[in-house]
Amino acid sequence: MSNDTRVNVPPATGKLGVLLPGMGAVATTFIAGVFAARKGIAKPIGSLCEMGTIRLGKRTDDNVPKIRDYVSLAALDDIVFGGWDLFKANCYEAALEAEVLDKDLVETLKDELSAIKPMAAVFDQSYVKRLRGEHVKTGKNKMDLAEQLMEDIKKFKADNGCDRLVAVWCGSTEVYREPTEVHATLAAFEEGLRASDDEIAPSQIYAYACLQMGVPYANGAPNLSVDIGAIQELAKKTKTPISGKDFKTGQTLMKTILAPGFKARMLGIRGWFSTNILGNRDGEVLDDPGSFKSKEISKLSVLDSILQPDKYPDLYGNLYHKVRINYYPPHGDNKEGWDNIDIFGWLGYKMQIKIDFLCRDSILAAPIVLDLALFSDFAKRAGMSGTQEWLSFYYKSPMTADGLYAEHDLFIQLMKLKNTLRHINGDDLITHLGNEYYD
Ligand SMILES: NC(=O)c1ccc[n+]([C@@H]2O[C@H](COP(=O)([O-])OP(=O)(O)OC[C@H]3O[C@@H](n4cnc5c(N)ncnc54)[C@H](O)[C@@H]3O)[C@@H](O)[C@H]2O)c1
Repeated sequence: MSNDTRVNVPPATGKLGVLLPGMGAVATTFIAGVFAARKGIAKPIGSLCEMGTIRLGKRTDDNVPKIRDYVSLAALDDIVFGGWDLFKANCYEAALEAEVLDKDLVETLKDELSAIKPMAAVFDQSYVKRLRGEHVKTGKNKMDLAEQLMEDIKKFKADNGCDRLVAVWCGSTEVYREPTEVHATLAAFEEGLRASDDEIAPSQIYAYACLQMGVPYANGAPNLSVDIGAIQELAKKTKTPISGKDFKTGQTLMKTILAPGFKARMLGIRGWFSTNILGNRDGEVLDDPGSFKSKEISKLSVLDSILQPDKYPDLYGNLYHKVRINYYPPHGDNKEGWDNIDIFGWLGYKMQIKIDFLCRDSILAAPIVLDLALFSDFAKRAGMSGTQEWLSFYYKSPMTADGLYAEHDLFIQLMKLKNTLRHINGDDLITHLGNEYYD
């Protein structure tokens, strides 16, 4: 059955340019993966856009198309890649340095990867203390830097014959900062750009430039970036979708899978201790307390919001939650995440769960970058603008409307995402009520 919520979304014809501020481990793993999938060397595993399905109508209807066949998404063959970094390495060199992918695979993709060279970055070392820029723009003030980025975007679009563009921040985690007056309104922010206000982070300058150009922007790191009033105002003004923050991979993914289950069964949790060791550049950046603070806040918010200790004081009122990240170079990108979970059940009897997740950070993040690029482009064509809460599924710290708590439960997030697609296509939402089978 069809209803009147249907939006006529223009099809994804022509080329989609995916712009990546930050072309390190995650970005190059994403790009190499798309090239590998195009060549038929590998499957885009982990991507809902490429592998996922969506049920329509009743369970008895057997109508379960692939998401890609249900809504018009850019084809992998139609994607072109660009971006910025403060290191000059092309994507072949950066992929080798990141050591996420097998050398053989990177060699197979050498021609395509070598052709992608980062544009000069907007960078300020006070925001990422452990890195030193060598391929960095200079300008008379921050507005000048934003304008240089806009020129880059225009040139990239023209040089590559793109019909549409999207941006996904894959740059390093910037130090923790609270929003200030300069972030509150677009007028204050633009004044701050002209005055080179210290509180304006490089990631916010990219976001401003992209949104001015009507380019949807997804933020894969925990720093504020698009999660400020000024940028939200600009997103509405230019009718551009934004989303964030911080790709949900590894340990937080596990948390948002497990915690809803414990809560569903009314099992109590007394303690959840999480520690990680990782040795990639992200780990090195997060070794700085300022950058770690951004990450810690993003990681800690998850349990409180899923478990609602105020509503369930007997079960979660006394929960001790601790998150640690330790830089340990021998592990490279192969992060190890340990969780010790102290739970309790009937009559308060205690139990323990131990998880040792030997994961690969960038392997988990790459399909998220792909989905965010494809869905952000879809959202723009569907006329959606501002914060895209339906993309919470991909984030540790989802952006929401003011005053609204974020939904962290992975399964609610997935239902929200799929129902959004059904809504746009004018199909019935799936409520799982199921009365109709018994009438
Ligand atoms: N891998 C994951 O599972 C995961 C999960 C959640 C979030 N993230 C976030 O994704 C981001 C990328 O992670 P990564 O492992 O690829 O890190 P990385 O260090 O390999 O790559 C980040 C790149 O960003 C560049 N950079 C930093 N500031 C920049 C700027 N202002 N402009 C342009 N380039 C800039 C760095 O030079 C570096 O090459 C990090 O913020 C990380 O916290 C990753």
